[in-house]
Amino acid sequence: MNPRPDSDCHFDFDEPVDRTGSCSFKWDRYEGRDVIPLWVADMDFRSPQAVVDALHERVSHGVFGYSHASAGLEATVQAHLRDDFSWDVPADWIVWLPGLVSGLNVLCRAIGERGDDVVTFTPIYPPFLTAPGLAERGLVKVPLACRGDRWEMDLELLETALTERTRLLLLCSPHNPVGRVWSREELEGLAEVARRHDLVIGSDDIHAGLVLDEDKRHLPLAVVAPDLAKRTITLFAPSKTFNTPGLGCSFAAISDPSLRRAFCHTMEGIVPHVNVFGYVATEAAYAKGGAWLRALLDYLRGNRDLVEREVSSMPGLRITHIEATYLAWIDARDTGHGHPARFFEAAGVGLSDGVDFDAPGFVRLNFGCRRELLVEALARMRAALTA
Ligand SMILES: Cc1ncc(COP(=O)(O)O)c(C=O)c1O
Repeated sequence: MNPRPDSDCHFDFDEPVDRTGSCSFKWDRYEGRDVIPLWVADMDFRSPQAVVDALHERVSHGVFGYSHASAGLEATVQAHLRDDFSWDVPADWIVWLPGLVSGLNVLCRAIGERGDDVVTFTPIYPPFLTAPGLAERGLVKVPLACRGDRWEMDLELLETALTERTRLLLLCSPHNPVGRVWSREELEGLAEVARRHDLVIGSDDIHAGLVLDEDKRHLPLAVVAPDLAKRTITLFAPSKTFNTPGLGCSFAAISDPSLRRAFCHTMEGIVPHVNVFGYVATEAAYAKGGAWLRALLDYLRGNRDLVEREVSSMPGLRITHIEATYLAWIDARDTGHGHPARFFEAAGVGLSDGVDFDAPGFVRLNFGCRRELLVEALARMRAALTA
């Protein structure tokens, strides 16, 4: 097989890729039904050719024994963090994980004790809501405030919500589902609260590569507030950006040795190694996926603009500007339909239910798909609302 550098490739995100029969969660939910699946957060696009080529090459080796991250992969990850986020991360801060949700659950178990509290902003990606309880911690929810065209962290509300036993703050940055790229000022404000209350911060930065607004930049909290870096655990993965979530590879950057030890100790014997293909794909994606990613972001911007334009003109729906991610967070409370996810599903569009994000009456739409499919889904939604 001929490895082709991505820069030589033509990227056609309009090309249909048939995912039926590939054991896709997203597509198989509606197998045999005329429902366009725009729910779980993976995209319908092929990964960069460089990733596919690297996997082919590794497959042809034919021996798939236990595997560790290579020095080349570590250097690639370090270069990625330095180039994209101005963050110098020594290799020994990196802890590899087979999934970021594992990382969230490990975090909740590693910090504090049973009966302590974990605080997070809602609405939020569902595992943020379940991980504290699974770790026998309490969950403190602080609603994000929708002000004008954007969702914001209400830091006063956060401060009043904190309990004596709140040890850990789980942050999603950029935020799923509201699509915000937190600004330097917002992160500095949050850091100030964390400082005052001695909180450890778990920052899930899995969507960091998917900033759509060209005048915005993802800033890891540990970079914005270097004095807090020693009590920040930042979770990254290439999986959302390069569409490799089925390969299970993510990592934590933990600068403080005792925090790192606690994290690794909690993983011991429970969290498996990353599989060999996850490592291979991660290195290829970060090292050679740049041109593909630029083309992807361009395509997603087009989809984002279409979704914002269409949804904002549908009766009863409201949408805020999506700065990052391929996820649109839609307020459907004014449609008069008690269960909007079910309503749209009956109309042939499968969306994520806001209930799971602690926000009944909302739905989340995944626009990481072909434009043609998206146009059809939006037309179905409009037709259902105007029928
Ligand atoms: C904020 C966030 N964290 C974690 C994940 C999942 O990570 P993983 O598949 O590595 O467990 C997702 C997937 O949508 C996500 O949006």
